[in-house]
Amino acid sequence: MDRVKKQAIAILGCGVVGGATAKLLTQDIDFLKKRTNLTFFLKYIIDTNFARAKELNLDSSLFKSNLDEVLEDPEVAVVVELVGGTTFAKNAALKILNAKKHLVTANKALLAMHGVELFAAARKNKVSISFEASCGGGIPIIRAIYDGLIANKQDALYGIVNGTCNYILTEMTLNGVSYKKALKEAQEKGLAEADPTLDVSGMDSAHKLAILSSITFGMQIDVDSIPVSGIDKLDLLDINSGKELGYIIKLIAMARLVDGKLAIRVAPSFIRKEHPLAWVTGSFNAISLYSHALGHSMYYGRGAGGSPTASAVVSDIISVFLGTAEKTFSTLPIWPDKTKPAPLLPDGEGKGRYYLRINAKDCAGVLSKIASVFAENDISISSVLQKELVEETAGEQITGAYVPVIIITHKVKEENMRKAIAKIDAFDFVKSKIVYIHIMDEHEEIF
Ligand code: HSE
Repeated sequence: MDRVKKQAIAILGCGVVGGATAKLLTQDIDFLKKRTNLTFFLKYIIDTNFARAKELNLDSSLFKSNLDEVLEDPEVAVVVELVGGTTFAKNAALKILNAKKHLVTANKALLAMHGVELFAAARKNKVSISFEASCGGGIPIIRAIYDGLIANKQDALYGIVNGTCNYILTEMTLNGVSYKKALKEAQEKGLAEADPTLDVSGMDSAHKLAILSSITFGMQIDVDSIPVSGIDKLDLLDINSGKELGYIIKLIAMARLVDGKLAIRVAPSFIRKEHPLAWVTGSFNAISLYSHALGHSMYYGRGAGGSPTASAVVSDIISVFLGTAEKTFSTLPIWPDKTKPAPLLPDGEGKGRYYLRINAKDCAGVLSKIASVFAENDISISSVLQKELVEETAGEQITGAYVPVIIITHKVKEENMRKAIAKIDAFDFVKSKIVYIHIMDEHEEIF
């Protein structure tokens, strides 16, 4: 494997991650060179906000505002795209690849939406794209899958892959903090995307799931085919009721093979409090993989924030100079001509357990009517919790008093669950739409 001879690095975008990467590449450069026996150096930071130089105590002569000018420099081997978004970033990425510079990026939305086109451009120009920082922040999960686990087939992947959501849910669950306050704190900590809707809507997790599951299963996964629900509509009442029953809420990105078909989704899910994913708190991420030779393994670490993400970015930069990035890129199962579109499990065919909250009038016969709909749809109840009469709460569209009836089911076919929910929703004693949350059970190891 030949080391890359050109030695200069350019960073495009000096936000939270760009700034942290620039600091790591300047403050720790002697350590990095000694450790790798390389002589690379940061030559440019492309950003129009030159004030960042002073804020971050960086040499202002590094700053340039024009990407094209930097791409003309023959000394530049690699450009690190850290601007985020998909419009400007896509044009910039294509320019970088067409200028025959290696591309390092943390941009999961860009890869999930335009990966095929960008990978083809990289291949045509005989350069690489490295994207360890795009999933799981500082956790070297992509390397773990394609390298450490190369001898394994996987049948399931369950991940907590958004630090902002995990921070918010942890604060709500453990400290009773409101959703709004927790989101503000996550933004202040530099965890959230520039547009936090991407985090809380579950889309950021879907982008990461598309990338991770493509590599894990060697299939093309179209991000638009992933059913996604976020954490922005969750009610503290459900988080607390689940907790009473021994469950912790997490935003879970999961992909699982069921008889050769891929069941895939991002959704808030309850997991038993003893499950290792339930212990993943704050901005930490974890990815749980089920492999045929190794069995269960879990990869845990800081999933968001400047310095953790910069750790993964710099490891990718070093792989470019070592010559390993190019080699890896050419063998990753991400090429359209090497992989096929994932055969997806048809909608409604999946099976799982559910948490339901039915806001019902407090009168005789309610439970028996609900139970009869369950019986008609072959749904067996695992536990029931009925709270005392409570008054209307903010955010609930209920007039007058109601009782929250909380039900946990045994495993049911999704289609049956939907039918039962629609039927119960139509009863006149039900005062607002049923809240339902997936329950993620321990994965049944099939290997
Ligand atoms: N906004 C993302 C998160 C950053 O909170 O996980 C890391 O991709």
